[in-house]
Amino acid sequence: MRTLVKHILAATEPRDNVTVKGWVRTRRDAKGFSFVEINDGSCLGNVQVVVDAGTPGAEQLPHFNTGASVAVQGSLVPSPAQGQKWELRASRLELVGAADPAYPLQKKGHTPEFLRTIAHLRPRSNLFGAVFRLRSRLAFAVHQFFQERDFVYVHTPIITASDCEGAGEMFRVTTLKGSLDEKPQTDFFGKPAYLTVSGQLEGETFACALSNIYTFGPTFRAENSNTARHAAEFWMIEPEMAFCDLQGDMDLGEEFIKAMAHYAVEHCAEDLALFAKFVDKGLHERLKFVVERPFVRVPYTEAVEILSKSGKRFEYPVSYGQNLQSEHERFLTEEHFKSPVTVFNYPKEIKPFYMRLNDDQRTVTAMDVLVPGIGEVIGGAQREERLDQLLENMKFHQLKPEDYWWYVDLRRYGTVPHAGFGLGFERLLMFLSGVSNIRDVIPFARTPGSAEF
Ligand code: 4AD
Ligand code: MG
Repeated sequence: MRTLVKHILAATEPRDNVTVKGWVRTRRDAKGFSFVEINDGSCLGNVQVVVDAGTPGAEQLPHFNTGASVAVQGSLVPSPAQGQKWELRASRLELVGAADPAYPLQKKGHTPEFLRTIAHLRPRSNLFGAVFRLRSRLAFAVHQFFQERDFVYVHTPIITASDCEGAGEMFRVTTLKGSLDEKPQTDFFGKPAYLTVSGQLEGETFACALSNIYTFGPTFRAENSNTARHAAEFWMIEPEMAFCDLQGDMDLGEEFIKAMAHYAVEHCAEDLALFAKFVDKGLHERLKFVVERPFVRVPYTEAVEILSKSGKRFEYPVSYGQNLQSEHERFLTEEHFKSPVTVFNYPKEIKPFYMRLNDDQRTVTAMDVLVPGIGEVIGGAQREERLDQLLENMKFHQLKPEDYWWYVDLRRYGTVPHAGFGLGFERLLMFLSGVSNIRDVIPFARTPGSAEF
């Protein structure tokens, strides 16, 4: 029976007959014995193995190079060395798979940029082990958060024919060869189909039946923005609530981000400590702040005024009716408010058709949550539940109601005020870890010009 290193390091008493399996981090040979550090990815720490020269299997020691996979049997004893409670006194060694000396992850520190080029090996580094353990724990926390609040998990389709965001940033899915639009009715689905940019529209149908739902799945956008916070494939969490308005939507978004920060602090302490040491010195302070303080809420119009009066020279000028650029978002959250900020009630021109028109006839019930270091992590809205107004919105955005007939139907049969949002899972992980590039919080990044691995 194999014991994971995390359980070994957390042992409360000595133990005989323990088996560890993992990859060699380092080996030091002294006269008559050797030290081997083994990591198995179950936690940040390594277990130190002490091997006496005569130990069965010790003749293999020269092959216990960095990167080799090994199995060691022995007894767990208190370690006389500084900084570790336990060490494993080996009684038997086995080399499972040798590592060629060209193994690129030798012990010295590597830059995230270099590690990106060896994404198949980077999970074996301290930083990426920590990132992907955090990712796993947080995925669990997302489900726990919604399940505890009676939200139903819905698997919305990955292949879809409707462009939820209306931004035309969809990847086409086709079996046609040559000119795709000549006879789209002969294509696999009988019409043009795409990878989803959001599960929202389908999610709304389930919210209008099961009340509170959420989706959590892969999402695809063919936007050609080569930035540190955009990926062509990312994971989005989308709750949708029936009988809910913009206020309730903003409340849930804030509660959710706070809960995720709290969960990370409680359950991922060792990995967060690594990020705080090597990636983002202010991490602990930031997470504490996020958990404890209410987010600022500000209408779009006021946000634009703050930006115009800021005296800052932005690359993109600010004026009413323009989308907030990343530099504007970051000014608001990092410099002006120094807090997460929820901006709401945006001009209807710059937001999708499904958002509810406000009584001022100019703005819609949109809300974006902006956080320091990232900018937007959440985009959401109260939805237009009035049939006539939805049809007006579609006309305004030059969409054909026939293409969205089932979505329009929801407004015909027992329509209700409802609201929801989308949170980019990778952006949340960047926020919680301080890791500044989205390519470093997703196992294998898909970005313009890059789909390696
Ligand atoms: O603001 P967005 O486009 O909103 C929607 O898609 C809505 N349909 C969601 C809803 O109301 N159910 O995207 C939501 C979030 C963004 O705030 C951002 O965190 C993330 O998804 N996101 C991306 N993350 C990584 N790479 C990209 N290219 C992203 N585009 C959006
Ligand atoms: Mg958005």
